[in-house]
Amino acid sequence: MAIKTIILAAGQGTRMRSVKPKVLHKIADRALLQHVYDTSQQLENNSVVIVYGHGGELVKEQLSSFDANWVEQKQQLGTGHAVQQAEGYINADDKVLILYGDVPLLKKQTIVRLLENVSQTSIGLLTVNLDDPKGYGRIIRSSEGSVLKIVEEKDASNQEKLVIEGNTGIIGAPGNLLTEWLSKLGNSNAQGEFYLTDIIEMAVNDGIEVKTNQPETQDEVLGVNDRSQLAYLERVYQLQQAQDLMQQGVTLRDPARIDVRGEFKHLGQDIEVDVNVVFEGINSIGDNVIIGANCILKNAVIADDVEILANCIIEDASVGEHSRIGPFARLRPQAELANEVHIGNFVEIKKSTVATGTKINHLSYIGDASIGSKVNIGAGTITCNYDGVNKFKTIIEDGVFIGSDTQLIAPVTVGKGATIGAGSTITKDTPDDQLTLSRAKQISLNGWQRPVKG
Ligand code: UD1
Ligand code: CA
Repeated sequence: MAIKTIILAAGQGTRMRSVKPKVLHKIADRALLQHVYDTSQQLENNSVVIVYGHGGELVKEQLSSFDANWVEQKQQLGTGHAVQQAEGYINADDKVLILYGDVPLLKKQTIVRLLENVSQTSIGLLTVNLDDPKGYGRIIRSSEGSVLKIVEEKDASNQEKLVIEGNTGIIGAPGNLLTEWLSKLGNSNAQGEFYLTDIIEMAVNDGIEVKTNQPETQDEVLGVNDRSQLAYLERVYQLQQAQDLMQQGVTLRDPARIDVRGEFKHLGQDIEVDVNVVFEGINSIGDNVIIGANCILKNAVIADDVEILANCIIEDASVGEHSRIGPFARLRPQAELANEVHIGNFVEIKKSTVATGTKINHLSYIGDASIGSKVNIGAGTITCNYDGVNKFKTIIEDGVFIGSDTQLIAPVTVGKGATIGAGSTITKDTPDDQLTLSRAKQISLNGWQRPVKG
């Protein structure tokens, strides 16, 4: 049977106090709805329908890459009404899975177990035992333990409110039976809503068994209604990422102080990560890489045996083997460093290649440059790559030594083996192997007197 996943995402989310639809709020840089969608994509033979709300055009727009059918629920008349909007997409022989767009951490395994309970004689219901079931629909069972119905909090008797088994809202049912039940839903209840949960009692009346399963942890089925729940689930998610990394052999000084907002294309062995490191986008990290505290790596490619000292930002850049970066270095997009390169504090590198064994250890800006191997760039060196309109290239050939506080006015080439005297402003290409410097001659004024206050 094909799986048809219907994701309910039309709720208002008033408690977020946001102009943005709730499901666009993010956990680990991914919209809540994206998490749910991504999980659904792990199911085989699955297609997705998303029920979005009035004013939720923004949702459709921002998540337009989804391979899904979108249906609008113009008025939020309840979860049953929401599923009714998707009816046109439900085939009789589908296994229909109902998910919530604001429940981001549900695991594939839990869904798979739920779907195993769906047949022509049974439906699947995901329930959860709660310390505080307030607000949840309660699972009402017979004395033999079989599910009879779900009663919403607002419709529940005092006796029923004592039940701690709550409805997660996640349901699986065969398409033919579900559409039949949907057509019979009414709204004569405390909230005047069309409750999807009413199909449970209909199933029981039709002699269909309601089989339940539970998630591994409560966190899996928690929804986001306000910013505090959003922050809570972000931490739950991050702790899971940290556990994953440690299981893959990464040392984390503190698993509670790392954020992974993306994925790893490659993770080597014996990586060590100090506190407050943020990984964004797609990163590749080689063997024995050490990452100091407070670093941000975004789409970085870090080769084996690299040491990144504290407080570095590396974005869309690559670092070769045995290199040492930082502390306080910034590698911007298209910084490509070869092996054994040393980049020190307060050095910014953008759109530049740096060949093997080169050192840029202090306070420099290197932009639009090509730097050879075994070059030494002195403190305070600036490639002046921009005239306010256009960008120009600086070429520094192998074995060059650039004295401190040099400005290289691009376009300019410093020839192989050249030495540039400290404090120079280099405006013309310099010859190989020679000392070039541009520096006003030092003078001292004999008899000069320091002024005194008049
Ligand atoms: C629902 C269940 C309740 C369960 C609880 C779990 C019903 C009647 N009740 O409660 O048994 O314990 O979820 O959180 O199903 N939505 C729409 N359109 C609507 C209404 C809701 O798309 O008209 C979506 C919301 O965006 C949300 C989900 O459905 O993703 C659940 O809605 P919400 O209002 O949070 O749940 P309740 O109805 O309170
Ligand atoms: Ca609710």
